Amino acid sequence: MSEDLKGKVALVTGASSGIGEATARTLAARGAKVALVARRVERLEKIASEIAAQGHTALAIEADITDQQQAIGTVERTVDDLGRLDILVNNAGVMLLGSVAASPTEEWDRMIDINLKGLLYMTHAATPHLLAGVEDSPRGATDLVNISSVAGRTASAGAGVYNLTKFGVGALSEAMRQELSRKGVRITIIEPGAVSTELVDHLRPEVRESVRERFDDIKTLEAQDIADAIEYAVTRPAHVSVNEILIRPTAQR
Ligand SMILES: NC(=O)c1ccc[n+]([C@@H]2O[C@H](COP(=O)([O-])OP(=O)(O)OC[C@H]3O[C@@H](n4cnc5c(N)ncnc54)[C@H](OP(=O)(O)O)[C@@H]3O)[C@@H](O)[C@H]2O)c1
Repeated sequence: MSEDLKGKVALVTGASSGIGEATARTLAARGAKVALVARRVERLEKIASEIAAQGHTALAIEADITDQQQAIGTVERTVDDLGRLDILVNNAGVMLLGSVAASPTEEWDRMIDINLKGLLYMTHAATPHLLAGVEDSPRGATDLVNISSVAGRTASAGAGVYNLTKFGVGALSEAMRQELSRKGVRITIIEPGAVSTELVDHLRPEVRESVRERFDDIKTLEAQDIADAIEYAVTRPAHVSVNEILIRPTAQR
């Protein structure tokens, strides 16, 4: 049975585009009040006002979550303005592909800063609220959803440092599942294959071309396909914890 999210508050990082935007819209449509976090605040405000126009509650929060104080501030602002925190979707991330030998190390720093440290800062700031939320939750469970990737399950040439970050997200999620499962906080890891978003726009041109060629002849996933998977996980009854969803385009090898 699927349950609605009325009375719940969700915070989605990386909500200015792609999977995060689709997730924020979807959770709001299911009744959650939603905080949208990213750096491009004009986009967040536009999305939040569209959500509000549908009769739901959305709060745009500008933040660079690689800065721990800003990450903490997003959680505080959410709890202050929306009253509580029941669902954290750690979605913000970058995928700067390239062979280890040929990649500028600045790209590694960016991936480690957002995919790992940003996710950790958000998780650390949010966990006390997720634990508190279990006590007075409308449904007796709260949710931490981490967006990993197929690249968090299978390493491949040209993706080594991205693999490193996403394998790390998988390891952290399992450890936290063991730490928090008895306390009512559910941990879900989502592992998408190729999704049509802005993610590839940040690649160096030669790398971008090779990624586009690889997926040129297949129908990739839409951001909504991943939002649907997240919606499924967070609307299960309290005794059901969806630990992992691996979701590829049908034609992806
Ligand atoms: N697309 C795929 O094929 C695919 C496959 C597997 C996994 N994923 C994962 O899905 C997640 C979302 O990616 P997407 O595909 O939706 O790409 P996207 O459209 O590029 O979204 C990335 C989001 O992260 C935000 N972000 C980046 N750096 C940030 C920072 N320092 N502070 C706050 N927000 C930041 C961006 O917002 P601002 O720039 O406005 O800050 C943006 O909203 C990522 O973790 C990615 O690794 C994607």
